[in-house]
Amino acid sequence: MTTTRPVLRRKGITPSGRSYLIRPSEDGDAPGLAALIDAVAAEGELIAAVPGEPDTIEQSVRLASMVLEGGLTLTLEVDGVPAGHVMVQRRAGGHYAHVGEVAILVSNSQRGAGLGRALMEMAIAWGRAVGLAKLSLRVFPDNQRAIGLYRSLGFDDEGLVRGEVRMPSGDRDMLLMGLALSDLR
Ligand SMILES: CC(C)(COP(=O)(O)OP(=O)(O)OC[C@H]1O[C@@H](n2cnc3c(N)ncnc32)[C@H](O)[C@@H]1OP(=O)(O)O)[C@@H](O)C(=O)NCCC(=O)NCCS
Repeated sequence: MTTTRPVLRRKGITPSGRSYLIRPSEDGDAPGLAALIDAVAAEGELIAAVPGEPDTIEQSVRLASMVLEGGLTLTLEVDGVPAGHVMVQRRAGGHYAHVGEVAILVSNSQRGAGLGRALMEMAIAWGRAVGLAKLSLRVFPDNQRAIGLYRSLGFDDEGLVRGEVRMPSGDRDMLLMGLALSDLR
């Protein structure tokens, strides 16, 4: 009998000729990923984070607990430097544990090279391999690039959650999206 294992490593060359590696996150990634989250937060309202706030740092040091709770965290390196991240957080509790919540980011300078797609494909493959029934995520409704990626991977829009995130511009709505990995009962 053969067992299917999630593929948690992928390496290759970007269209601009730089080498990349996607691998399970390690504790040592935390400072680099915190800096990355901070830099993306500074670009504007793309993710639910503001630069320099304690939450931003905390987010990056949740790496270990995420895995202990049955989730996934993968780090993308380009030329050996952290340049992206995907996490799947396993929901707690028997009524919710069949769903994983996805969060992803790629550094500004590496976008548009297919690396976000590679990270999402690996998260989806892992979700299937560990038997999750569904992946879900929340995205700002004006984040066209992220929404385009998710739709192209089969995620469906599941509705707008009103005033969900408190940001400098005010309380913002989020689009809920979901991908069924198996027939939902
Ligand atoms: C969203 C994000 C992870 C995508 O990563 P990426 O490496 O740029 O994505 P890719 O190069 O793999 O592009 C994937 C797909 O995105 C879509 N896309 C890219 N640019 C787009 C644009 N301007 N408008 C609409 N769709 C777009 C396309 O479907 C593209 O696939 P294709 O080029 O094969 O047709 C990245 O842009 C990012 O980190 N953004 C800032 C943080 C963020 O928004 N995170 C998500 C929060 S929910």
